[in-house]
Amino acid sequence: MGYPYSHEKEVRLISRGFGDPAARTLDGWKAMGGYEGLEKALEVGPSGVIDEVKASGLRGRGGAGFPAGVKWSFMPEKGERPHYLLCNADESEPGTFKDRELIRWLPHQLIEGCLIGSYAIGAEHCYIYLRGEFFETTQVLARALEEAYAAGYVGENILGSGVTIDITLHVGAGAYICGEETGLMNSLEGRRGLPRVKPPFPAAAGFFKSPTTINNVETLSVVPHLLTNGGEWYRQWGTEKSPGTKLFCVSGHVRKPGNYELPLGFPMMELIEDVCGGIRDGNELKAVIPGGASVPIMNVSDCLECSLDYEGVAKAGSMLGCASVIVMDETTDIVKQVRRLVQFFSHESCGQCTPCREGTTWLTRILSRIEDGRGTEQDLDTLLDLGEQMTGTTICVLSDSAAAPVASSIQKFRDEYLALIRRGERVGAA
Ligand SMILES: Cc1cc2nc3c(=O)[nH]c(=O)nc-3n(C[C@H](O)[C@H](O)[C@H](O)COP(=O)(O)O)c2cc1C
Ligand code: SF4
Repeated sequence: MGYPYSHEKEVRLISRGFGDPAARTLDGWKAMGGYEGLEKALEVGPSGVIDEVKASGLRGRGGAGFPAGVKWSFMPEKGERPHYLLCNADESEPGTFKDRELIRWLPHQLIEGCLIGSYAIGAEHCYIYLRGEFFETTQVLARALEEAYAAGYVGENILGSGVTIDITLHVGAGAYICGEETGLMNSLEGRRGLPRVKPPFPAAAGFFKSPTTINNVETLSVVPHLLTNGGEWYRQWGTEKSPGTKLFCVSGHVRKPGNYELPLGFPMMELIEDVCGGIRDGNELKAVIPGGASVPIMNVSDCLECSLDYEGVAKAGSMLGCASVIVMDETTDIVKQVRRLVQFFSHESCGQCTPCREGTTWLTRILSRIEDGRGTEQDLDTLLDLGEQMTGTTICVLSDSAAAPVASSIQKFRDEYLALIRRGERVGAA
C-alpha cells in the first residue's frame, strides 16, 4: 500500500511514513526514532520543553498560526484545578484532509506529541476530539493508544518518571462548529457545541473552567521532532517568521491532488505547476483559495508571486489558514462555487449571533438569485454591505469566514457576477 502522490521537492518530517502500514505500529514508530522526543522531554522538564518549542518558532497549524510555545507559556502555574490539553482533530474545513492522514498513518507521532504537550503545560489528562466521520482514523488511533498504554508510554508513572498522563479519545457528531476551540470544549463537556465569548481565554478558564490548551493535530505531530532534534533544527526550513515545513492539502483542478509536505515559503505556482503536475486537461488556472474555505479567493495575478507562508499569502491578499489549497481552472463558475461555500457556512452556523445566522442565510439567498439570473447590480452592493456587517461583530469567526469569499470574489471576479445579472436582464426583457 503506497501513498498516491509524492514529490522530490517534499521535505518529509511529519509525513515520513505516509503509505507505510508498519509506521502505524509501536515498533514501526520506534524504528523511526519514535518516543525519543518524550524521553528527552522528561529529561529537560516542562520549561525546557517550552523553550525548545519557542526556539523552533512553530506556529499553530489549525488556521490562526499562533506560536505554539508562546501559547503553552500562557498556562498558569499548577493550582487547585487540573490542567488539560485538548487535541483538535475535528478537521471539517472544506478542502482540508491532512489531520486524518497524520492520524491514520502515524498515530504514535500524535500520541507522543500529546504526551509532550501535556507534560509541558502540567496536564495529567489529554483529550483528542475526533471528527464524527473519522471511523477508520479513530480505530487506528485507538489501537495505537492501547499499544502505548501497554508499553508504559501513557498512563501512570510514564517510563518510571513519576509523571502521569492519560489520553482519552472522544468522537464528535460531525459538526463543523465543534472545531472552534470553545465550541469543542462545550461539546466535550456534554453541552451543545456553541462557541463561548472570549475572554476568559482557555488558558484561564477552559475545559470545565480549568486551565486548558487546545492544539491542532499537525501542531502536536511536529512536537516530538523538536525535542529529538532541537528547536533550532526546525528553522533550517521555512522563513524567519514562518519556520519549518507544512502539509499542503491540494485539491481541485490539478493533475495530482494530495498532501504534500513542503518548506513554508514555497512558491504557489511551483506547487501547482510542478509538484501537483499542473492544471488538468491543459486548462488555464483561474482562481485559488489558499487556506480552506474561510479565506479570501485569489485570482491568477495574486498567485504569480505568492509564497506559501503566513506573511506571503497575507501580502497576496488572502490567508494561509490551514494551507488547504483549492485550485480552480477556467471552467469554474465562480459565483456557483462561492454560493456553495456560503451555503456550507449557513448550514454550519450555530445560530447564536444575529449577523452570522441571518447574514449567512441572506448571502446564500442573494447569491442563489444571481446564479439563477434573477439578480441586480444593487445586489452586489447589498452583498458587500452584509459582509461588512458580518465581520468582527460575532462570537467566533465563522461569520467573517463566510463573508471573506463573497467580498473577494466580487472584487476579483465582478465580471462574472455582472454577466449573470445581465443575461438574466436580457432573458427578462425578451
Ligand atoms: C468555525 C471554526 C472551525 C474550526 N475548525 C478547526 C478544526 O477543525 N481543527 C482545528 O485544528 N482548528 C479549527 N479551528 C481553529 C481552532 O479554534 C483553534 O484555533 C485551533 O485548534 C488551535 O490550534 P493551533 O494553535 O495548534 O493551531 C476552527 C476555528 C473556527 C472559527
Ligand atoms: S459567529 Fe456564527 S458560528 Fe460563531 S458563534 Fe456566532 S452564530 Fe455561532
